[in-house]
Amino acid sequence: MIAAIIPAAGSGERFGKDQDGKAKQFLQLAGKPLYEWSLKELCAHEDISQIVLLVPAQEVESIKWETSQGIQMSKVSVIAGGASRQQSVVKGLSFLSQSQPPPDYVLVHDAARPMLSQKMIQDTIDAVTKFGACTLALPVSDTIKKTEGGTVSETVDRSQLVQIQTPQAAKFTWLLEAHEKAIADNLSTTDDSTILQHNGHKVHIVPGSAYNLKITNPEDLLICQSLIFSQKANGLQAAI
Ligand code: CTP
Ligand code: MG
Repeated sequence: MIAAIIPAAGSGERFGKDQDGKAKQFLQLAGKPLYEWSLKELCAHEDISQIVLLVPAQEVESIKWETSQGIQMSKVSVIAGGASRQQSVVKGLSFLSQSQPPPDYVLVHDAARPMLSQKMIQDTIDAVTKFGACTLALPVSDTIKKTEGGTVSETVDRSQLVQIQTPQAAKFTWLLEAHEKAIADNLSTTDDSTILQHNGHKVHIVPGSAYNLKITNPEDLLICQSLIFSQKANGLQAAI
């Protein structure tokens, strides 16, 4: 059995709030709230039988209602997230550990990445069932430099660098135990592959996609909107 966790409980500090005080994952993106894009894509994958959506505590009831209106939403549980992404994922894992039986594998995908596709989900499932732990990642194409006091100090060899994306996935027991160890060791990170590595697991790289944009700042939402509209205009959905 494969489950998914969607952390959507952040406050979007870098993005800023809209006039109604909504965090970025609840803003409209081409006709639906941002978090619904990846939620619907995960719901549509037949191998994923359970999804835990973590939202801010004050949003739980309204999002429960919203998701109850959707098709295939019966596999979704909406619960309150934690004070950090890491704590939200831990809450999702602990919720899933109470399922009878708990899942064999779990995917973690940030609500802030709305362009999730069936191919990305399938590639992640293929890799996690083969290797036990994996993450989507993209090679770095820009030249990367270290800086010191506002000037360039060093050029980093980019040939070994990748940009990490989500989904990330692991055997359920591996991720649960790795998070327990991270708490015991006071390790705090924004990324589950770091937590898996810290517990001695090798995390396999799955080629990601430049379309798998992360919404961090307002301009990211504009880029994403343009991408969706141009895909619709050109019938490019299948290319992602
Ligand atoms: N997230 C979460 N719980 C938190 C913090 C973050 O579930 N306490 C989620 C976000 O909602 C997002 C994902 O983790 O889907 C990645 O986090 P990020 O893009 O950094 O979102 P925020 O933490 O909300 O943004 P910022 O760091 O700018 O405040
Ligand atoms: Mg954050």
